Amino acid sequence: MSKVKTKTKFVCTSCGAAFVKWQGRCAACEEWNTLIEEGEASIESFEGWSGAGNPQKLAEIVLAREERMLTGVGEFDRTLGGGLLKGSLVLIGGVPGIGKSTLVLQVSDKISAKYGKVLYVSGEESLQQIKLRADRLSVKSENLFLLSEVSLEAIIRKINQIKPSLVIVDSIQTLFDKNVESTPGSVSQVRQAVLELMKLAKTQGITVIIAGHVTKEGFIAGPKILEHMVDAVLYFEGEGVQQLRILRCVKNRFGATGEVGVFEMAANGLLEITDISKFLIGHRSQSPGSVITPVMEGTRCFLIEMQALTSKTNFGYPSRKCSGIDLNRLSLIIAVLEKKIGLCLSGSDIFVNVVNGVFVDETAVDLAAAAAIFSSFKGKTPEPVTAIFGEVGLLGEVRSVPFAANRVKELVKMGFKKCVLPKILITEDLKKHPIELIGVENLKEALALI
Ligand code: TYD
Ligand code: MG
Repeated sequence: MSKVKTKTKFVCTSCGAAFVKWQGRCAACEEWNTLIEEGEASIESFEGWSGAGNPQKLAEIVLAREERMLTGVGEFDRTLGGGLLKGSLVLIGGVPGIGKSTLVLQVSDKISAKYGKVLYVSGEESLQQIKLRADRLSVKSENLFLLSEVSLEAIIRKINQIKPSLVIVDSIQTLFDKNVESTPGSVSQVRQAVLELMKLAKTQGITVIIAGHVTKEGFIAGPKILEHMVDAVLYFEGEGVQQLRILRCVKNRFGATGEVGVFEMAANGLLEITDISKFLIGHRSQSPGSVITPVMEGTRCFLIEMQALTSKTNFGYPSRKCSGIDLNRLSLIIAVLEKKIGLCLSGSDIFVNVVNGVFVDETAVDLAAAAAIFSSFKGKTPEPVTAIFGEVGLLGEVRSVPFAANRVKELVKMGFKKCVLPKILITEDLKKHPIELIGVENLKEALALI
């Protein structure tokens, strides 16, 4: 292993490129304001750790059997596309307090019971604190080893001693390598720690899960290259005090991305939610402004309650606020409601909310948002057994959306009797479902039905 001393001072937090002088824009990735000052870094090259040093013919490479560890936490396994791949490096990002430590401790417990030793390294909490948490979660596996340590060197030494099947690092921002002259959490430190852990994973087949904090902007603190280096990136999300937590896979070298796992944060840890629709619309409100719509997350479909409230603007400019959908999308829908339906909304404040703190990034909820606003404005309660989905175009037309069959099936499962949807989606196959399908071509037709 060769060691190269570099005299870098400014490192790009986006791509990791290093420069002698500060610049407003990174010359490598052309991002603005991403360069930060750092002390001298020593970069080690890891020649040969990925296996043989010589190029091999593709045809001669023998595939090792893909070994996956099933944690038994179904929602976690599903997010990763069927469990943890042996020797892979998984990054779990999330804002502080969202439940990363809780999740990884619960996963550690299950893995250690089934696959042998697990080493849980915490740089944030003392052993006492972890024990308290473990008691709360009823974690008491014989094979779970806890280590409160921040020195990378010491951690690697312990891993080599214990030889666990899984290592948890909580969190990557606390690790410190004395060969790198910058503070823990800095770009160089984080990069160095991930490199070392990756080397360990790839050469010894040890699976590593890294927890990482997310910045205000929603990125994992540290260089973006961190996400490029690891095999899988999961984001753990949730809204403030809400109990709903969504684990979302945004990168996966060994499976599909976009898959989600859904949990509820309870007093004794994270509980899996398998029937998401029931959890989300179980306590739905039946009053003007409440509409049910099916949404897709990865390969799953579930129902959400979209709520809108319109009220007279008291002074000045009307307010438009939303949570759970994109504000630009809301502005578009309001413009179409005014221009194509003739609704006079200029004197109304409009608030739109997806119940339970879910964020939906799908145009398929357009119709529901439009219907919710319309229903609140008119003061009429939509039929409780009717749901609606579809995209709204700028000309007031209702456009097709993918996964119609999944959405209709979920509605049937939850006992809905009627569904308003883009006409073009109604096929003979779709009509076989025991629900009345009402196809619409424009927003006007849709609102008349709601
Ligand atoms: P934690 O796992 O420490 O979050 P992170 O590691 O992402 O910072 O979870 C912190 C929050 O979860 C904390 O506010 C308390 C809450 N919590 C529960 O509600 N129930 C529990 O069983 C546990 C362990 C935590
Ligand atoms: Mg934590």
